[in-house]
Amino acid sequence: MAGRLFLQIPGPTNLPDRVVRAISQPIINHRGAEFAKLVKGLLPRLKGVFRTERGTPLIFPSSGTGVSEAALVNTLSPGDKVLCFTIGNFSVAYAKLARNLGFQVEEVALPWGSGVSEEQAYERLAADRDRGIKAVFTIQNETSTGVMTDLRAVRRALDRADHPALLVVDTVSGLGSIDFRMDEWGVDIAVTGSQKGLLLPPGLGMLCVSEKALVASQSAKSPRHYFDWAAMLENNRKGFFPYTPATTLLFGLDESLKMLAEEGLPNVFARHARLAEGVRKAVAAWGLKLVAHKPEEASNTITAVVTPQGVDADALIALAEARFNLALGNGLGPLSGKVFRIGHLGQLNELEVLATLGGVEMALRQLKHPVPLGSGVAAAQGWFLENGR
Ligand SMILES: Cc1ncc(COP(=O)(O)O)c(C=O)c1O
Repeated sequence: MAGRLFLQIPGPTNLPDRVVRAISQPIINHRGAEFAKLVKGLLPRLKGVFRTERGTPLIFPSSGTGVSEAALVNTLSPGDKVLCFTIGNFSVAYAKLARNLGFQVEEVALPWGSGVSEEQAYERLAADRDRGIKAVFTIQNETSTGVMTDLRAVRRALDRADHPALLVVDTVSGLGSIDFRMDEWGVDIAVTGSQKGLLLPPGLGMLCVSEKALVASQSAKSPRHYFDWAAMLENNRKGFFPYTPATTLLFGLDESLKMLAEEGLPNVFARHARLAEGVRKAVAAWGLKLVAHKPEEASNTITAVVTPQGVDADALIALAEARFNLALGNGLGPLSGKVFRIGHLGQLNELEVLATLGGVEMALRQLKHPVPLGSGVAAAQGWFLENGR
């Protein structure tokens, strides 16, 4: 098909040309001085993206799921209790991961479409009188529902309950796109992947860990090898990895961190917020509903839209790709067939969002849903003009 694929899934995101050029460089010796210089230059800048001075970043050749596993096996011992708030497919997957690793999981299943509130978190933590819960897992941006949780609220709940559990946060579809502040919000372990706000191909899993999490890792008894922080940290100090690193992705990370710094994180967040609101204005103009229940929790990186009666979401997604070269995200788990998701994160601008919205409108019309052509596009255009940079 002529033209490029409009990859508007909620990650992996479109690769900026600068990143493509960076990852196309020849491989270098990963035990040599040039590589050590690269790694030593990357880690402090990665701290900046996590907004931490006290935290320690770690990079693994892995997907996001791998570093979620790393977060638990490095800080917990077999049978330890993890409190998991599940609000969508990815948080449910995390609870399963923890169970499969042999931890005891207290799963608090909350309605899909909402975030975790301070009261919900406080209630569970205050009830844990013997302090059996060792880690609290929450997700900053639930990619399956397009819902953000205010991490400050979860931190407040821990503090109010005077609970010592580690706060483990999945910010796979948040970091580099929506505000995240490791130190200020008292996050102990943040996990993310390369393929979303960090503008890279899939293949790097990243964590940032607090001093408290590092102390916990010294007595944690879970078996670990590939994801062992101690081995990684020891090697990183000299600029190396304990095994073969994803060299070209690290070249890409060097470039994408430059790009984020050039734009400035506050501007990056503001751009995501502005583009997301444009998408939401379009959805409202189509007369469709978001999966997100509360406007203030609607995600700035992905919008999950409930398809109208009589329109199968998977048919819409298939049509959009086959006819318009537009890739949208599908509904996950119980939302399958009922929801489509528009990814609006990474290196993206207003015109790309408008093209995406135009494609969705045409696909809806082809499936006989009587959306007025141009209605969503016009609503977003109006918003973008009124809310310039
Ligand atoms: C919020 C969230 N958590 C975890 C994951 C899993 O990450 P990965 O597929 O990189 O293992 C994803 C993937 O999209 C995600 O969006």
